[in-house]
Amino acid sequence: MSRQKAAGELRSARWFAPDDLRSFGHRSRMMQLGYGEADFHGKPVIGILNTWSELNTCHAHFRERAKDVARGVLQAGGLPVEMPSLSVDESFTKPTSMLYRNMLAMETEEMIRSHPLDGVVLMGGCDKTTPGLVMGAISAGIPMIYLPAGPMLRGNYAGRILGSGSDAWKYWDERRAGNITDQEWIGLQGGIARSAGVCMTMGTASTMTAIADAMGITLPGASSIPAVDANHQRMGADCGRRIVEMVWEDLTPDRIVTEAAVRNAAVVAMATGCSTNAVVHLIAMARRAGIDLTLDDMDALGRTTPLIANVRPSGKDYLMEDFYYAGGLRALMKRIEDRLDLSCMTVTGQTMGENLEGAAVYNDDVIRPLSNPVYREGSLAVLKGNLCPDGAVIKPAACDPRFHLHEGPALVFDSYPEMKKAVDDPDLDVTPDTVMVLRNAGPQGGPGFPEWGMLPIPKALIRQGHRDMLRISDARMSGTSYGACILHVAPESHVGGPLALLRNGDIVRLDLPARRLDMLVDEAELARRRAAWTPPQPRFERGYGWMFLQHVTQADQGCDFDFLQTDFGRPAGEPDI
Ligand code: FES
Ligand code: MG
Repeated sequence: MSRQKAAGELRSARWFAPDDLRSFGHRSRMMQLGYGEADFHGKPVIGILNTWSELNTCHAHFRERAKDVARGVLQAGGLPVEMPSLSVDESFTKPTSMLYRNMLAMETEEMIRSHPLDGVVLMGGCDKTTPGLVMGAISAGIPMIYLPAGPMLRGNYAGRILGSGSDAWKYWDERRAGNITDQEWIGLQGGIARSAGVCMTMGTASTMTAIADAMGITLPGASSIPAVDANHQRMGADCGRRIVEMVWEDLTPDRIVTEAAVRNAAVVAMATGCSTNAVVHLIAMARRAGIDLTLDDMDALGRTTPLIANVRPSGKDYLMEDFYYAGGLRALMKRIEDRLDLSCMTVTGQTMGENLEGAAVYNDDVIRPLSNPVYREGSLAVLKGNLCPDGAVIKPAACDPRFHLHEGPALVFDSYPEMKKAVDDPDLDVTPDTVMVLRNAGPQGGPGFPEWGMLPIPKALIRQGHRDMLRISDARMSGTSYGACILHVAPESHVGGPLALLRNGDIVRLDLPARRLDMLVDEAELARRRAAWTPPQPRFERGYGWMFLQHVTQADQGCDFDFLQTDFGRPAGEPDI
């Protein structure tokens, strides 16, 4: 350990060291907690930002895990302080947890800045908690380690392995087709989520924690360890020990989250099969570090990076538990190391290349060799065209190839309830070529950019045996979803994006190889429709929702608040009294 800092230079010393009335107050309050001066004075104070709650099922193990972190901090000579943080959960939050990602980011940044902390361990994992915590901590700028919650165990019912999300959608379609009994349905319900931890498909949670790992802000390979594995406890204690050293080394996030590290993260995201949500979050995190990652950058990486993690939903066969046993993220990164910048600094104080030394793949069917990828290119593709001038995304690997070049008539819905009603109508006028469209589901329209983008297949088609169709929306979709779904249409319809002008029966054309999405409607007609368009009522007129609508950016910009972006205004700096 290269010790670069003296005790008097600790950030917390500004609270605890001066011989003045204010510091007397701070010291006396630490003593109120039962600490003597030797416990806190001159020691790195480590905030353990814990997004535990009884309604965050994915973080059910975090109360215990925070103790493991604290044990490590104490062993290394620091003082651990656990701080409850906004527990943005995917399981219950309505209309969508995405509405609160930025709230967690704000809370994280402000709680760090305003308290006597020298370093932080960020405990998250359920989808939005990773970007929320990381965005805030990058802006706050003190040493940090991200502790990923880890995936839950494989789901299991009646001899069948079940994957989070993906199998819920799959068996729901079977139930609607009349192929599943009530008893089986209840059995699936009890088997699909059977331990603490995040969704164990390569959904948003596992994609985002892999991104954090690849960016160098977790301990190496930490993102792959199942939540309830004893290795996860030991990893927690390791985080505690390491963050204390990082404080002495003054290893701040700006030295780790560089342009090259963000690019590594994007490449790894593509190689894992990458939830579409990763694009929005990665852009937002990068921008906090002052890096202008664009949708076009993501598309370029998507075209050249093979998908080698055979993990559902993009892969066919396996789940995160299998991925861990096959060597986990370090093994995957080792396999694509010539596509990565191995000189990037990481939280270990060593480079990414050093962290990957000795990593090996133990099962070539789970982590495929480059000569036998799951998909040669394109975990993710970015589309442009007159329906989405600022971009839209699709996951080619998760959709039926017959839709890659497609033309069909639009069937447009203005709201989720309207669409839900229609899809259950057995007489709905729909063919396998129909392009189903949902609008008013973006950052402003949803509101909050909900995961409605895997529009349900109409019952009329399900009964004919169809399980996929081309769908378009300005919504997101769950990372565990699949199908021919075009998402994140920007600008969204609620703010007058061209999706607002589409009408039933208009022909929509997708040309995936050319990355184009267009409506075949002439410009004069579109101009007429544009002139007749009136903006809808804002979704919120008070409170946090109102603030969200005033400041959220569009999907292609990462949906951060404009005023939280790094180039907005003078840096906040340290509190001066
Ligand atoms: Fe928490 Fe999926 S619900 S990660
Ligand atoms: Mg999800």
